[in-house]
Amino acid sequence: MTADNTPASNETTVLEVDGLCVEFSMRGKQVPVLSDVSFNIDHGRTVAIVGESGCGKSMTALAVMRLIPSPPGRISSGKILFKGENLIEVSERRIREVRGRDISMIFQEPMTSLNPVYTIGDQIAETIKRHQAGSAASVRQQVLDLLRLVQIPAPERRISEYPHQLSGGMRQRVMIAIALACEPALLIADEPTTALDVTVQAQIFDLLKDIQAKRGTSLILITHDFGVVAELADRVVVMYAGRKIEEGTVEQVINDPRHPYTRGLLRCMPEIKLDPVLAAEPLAEIPGTVPDLLRQSKGCSFAPRCPSVTAKCIEMPPMVQLGEQRSARCWLAHEPAATAE
Ligand SMILES: Nc1ncnc2c1ncn2[C@@H]1O[C@H](COP(=O)(O)OP(=O)(O)OP(=O)(O)O)[C@@H](O)[C@H]1O
Ligand SMILES: [Mg+2]
Repeated sequence: MTADNTPASNETTVLEVDGLCVEFSMRGKQVPVLSDVSFNIDHGRTVAIVGESGCGKSMTALAVMRLIPSPPGRISSGKILFKGENLIEVSERRIREVRGRDISMIFQEPMTSLNPVYTIGDQIAETIKRHQAGSAASVRQQVLDLLRLVQIPAPERRISEYPHQLSGGMRQRVMIAIALACEPALLIADEPTTALDVTVQAQIFDLLKDIQAKRGTSLILITHDFGVVAELADRVVVMYAGRKIEEGTVEQVINDPRHPYTRGLLRCMPEIKLDPVLAAEPLAEIPGTVPDLLRQSKGCSFAPRCPSVTAKCIEMPPMVQLGEQRSARCWLAHEPAATAE
């Protein structure tokens, strides 16, 4: 959502993730999977979480929903404040109320999340009935309204169809309808279009923008695609090896990235119009692979792949504050791209 679409007076923080740490027990060891992850999201805004596979994007989303498989995982410290209430401390009963009603999530693969033996109408109705009382007729009406909201054609017919009768794009629309059934304040979309072709992806993103404008829903959008970030998000959190390594507005991060990893990700995206200094660099994948979390060193986890690595990087760089909600975890964070690389 752009600044023009949301009134400035409505800038209330919906979710505040503060110092979130998640550990998994692996081969008898406690392995940190998320370390000190912090970010906020305001009413009606979109925060994108980006990074390569395995960097902790889904884990962050699951932690917010308190859905980390436990054991072997556990939230070891931090706060997740939803409208001021720390979701880490609430009862199992309370978190079940919050899930689906206040915060809901759209997963990557709609076919695995829909039950093949129930009609899509029944599956949407079930979510509504779990959180509110109402007559069968009023629930049916709400289901039809939701099918219209997610732009499924002929909703009166589709309501009694089964998941296998719908295309992949239509199934993802049904998943969005389920996620929106109780008008959540916060929607988490974890790579919602990876399984869909490019045209359908664009339609789903248009739909999400449209719903957000109508309902003022806050959105956490998980993606590895900076093109999607540029199109949809207000702010970006870049993650690497379970840590936030850069944060800022979309403009700040795309036009003036301060972490070499962010610069590497951006260079892999030919459609993003980069600053000429960055664009002059060859288009390339970031060399190397994401580190094995079991074998993390004390220093910067990106150092083995970093083109700007120095002797200092054997120590973990601090999170350098570059402005309000603008930061990068790099010893060279104060230096713009032209001098840093
Ligand atoms: N059940 C599990 N047990 C142990 N480690 C796990 C488990 N699930 C995930 N992990 C580890 O947690 C880390 C973060 O995983 P996560 O699923 O959050 O990555 P991601 O950024 O969402 O990646 P992708 O883009 O592939 O979805 C990874 O290193 C992964 O190996
Ligand atoms: Mg994931």
